Amino acid sequence: MATTLLHFSPTNSPSLTKPPLLGLPARVRRLRLPSLLRRQPTAAAAYKVTIEHAGETRTLEVEEDETILERALDEGMDVPHDCKLGVCMTCPARLLRGAVDQSEGMLSDDVVERGYSLLCVAYPRSDCHIRTIPEEELLSLQLATAND
Ligand code: FES
Repeated sequence: MATTLLHFSPTNSPSLTKPPLLGLPARVRRLRLPSLLRRQPTAAAAYKVTIEHAGETRTLEVEEDETILERALDEGMDVPHDCKLGVCMTCPARLLRGAVDQSEGMLSDDVVERGYSLLCVAYPRSDCHIRTIPEEELLSLQLATAND
């Protein structure tokens, strides 16, 4: 009984010698390859956030996917904070102008509508002007609205 041995190597196997895209019609290669190569991750938008804190006013570039607290700390501002989770209310501020997304925080809707914010969960959605405030101011307001 005769035995046939098959020997595959990269040189005699057509599927291994051609890069995968060369098997596609030229028209498809021209259309798809450049668009795939051009696809780059998009950079997050950045906004100018002016922060008043302890007699100092600074304007920082804050990307939409970072919190105002993170940027302020990275820039060396001594902004009060603790949990960084929007729970302890150690980082209160008043939003004087602009918009932030703070949907991860624990502030009641009433308090948010009055322009209060927690810096640790505040992601800028426009250029903003923000002022830190005493913790007691926000706590008393939050408790008053919780009793309504
Ligand atoms: S650091 Fe705790 S709520 Fe912002």
